[in-house]
Amino acid sequence: MTTIAPIPFAVDLTVRPEIVPFFDTASNTISYVVRDPASQSCAVIDSVMDFDYASGGLSHESADRIIAHIRAQGWQLEWVIETHVHADHLSAAPYIQEQLGGRLGIGDQIRTVQDTFGKVFNERTRFERDGSQFDRLFADGDSYSIGTMTVHTLFTPGHTPADMVHVIGDAAFVGDTLFMPDGGSARADFPGGDARTLYRSIRRVLSLPAETRLFMCHDYGPNGRDIAWETTVAEQSAENIHVGGGVDEDTFVAMREQRDSTLAMPRLIIPSLQVNMRGGRLPEPDDDGRVFLRVPVNGL
Ligand SMILES: [Fe+2]
Repeated sequence: MTTIAPIPFAVDLTVRPEIVPFFDTASNTISYVVRDPASQSCAVIDSVMDFDYASGGLSHESADRIIAHIRAQGWQLEWVIETHVHADHLSAAPYIQEQLGGRLGIGDQIRTVQDTFGKVFNERTRFERDGSQFDRLFADGDSYSIGTMTVHTLFTPGHTPADMVHVIGDAAFVGDTLFMPDGGSARADFPGGDARTLYRSIRRVLSLPAETRLFMCHDYGPNGRDIAWETTVAEQSAENIHVGGGVDEDTFVAMREQRDSTLAMPRLIIPSLQVNMRGGRLPEPDDDGRVFLRVPVNGL
């Protein structure tokens, strides 16, 4: 019997945020600028820092596009949000924050993720695991504001232990819980991930009002279709290839675990985790001032 925690806030579908998507072709990530139509206030959700693993080269073209858009519109950045600790791309949150301000927020279970990966990378005392790299840690049902809009957080673990869906009026940013209906769901096999927990989190997202707009964090254009990122609760409930049409928990878990057993690790998981568990910052420089990332041999 699957028990789904109720939505711990009232959804106000009359609030309709303006949403500007930015697609990163290297990581198939969609970053969002979310703006309050009643003010100039905005937030950035899930930004990307460009990293060329082969050369170790870091750059900021993706984030610069977002910054340029916000500046051109004359918007005020209030929040820089991470839906979770991404394993497939590096976050540009601190880079954006340095230029435009705003507060950096993530789910409060980040401490669990930091503990797990602090051990994986043997960080010892080089790395605090108390979430202090972020300005705000959200619990389930917390709220914050973007201008006149209230954002509510929904705890949706499973892909990782710290995922949060952010619900803003009629829009919900689902992070890596769901993909588009023809893409299914996110993997649940990273350290701390769990398919059963993910199923319950997805059901929770799908208990939002049917007309809620859902915005994906990733899309891979399955079967050759164009990249897409927006759908609705109603569409996902009816058509999602992993959970649509009332797929039960055991069926989902068996499918998810079988599928996860076939997936290679994301190309950028090792640099991504080391940077993103620090809120998008690089590790402390070495004694000669250069910065290094570590590769744990047979450690993942
Ligand atoms: Fe992810």
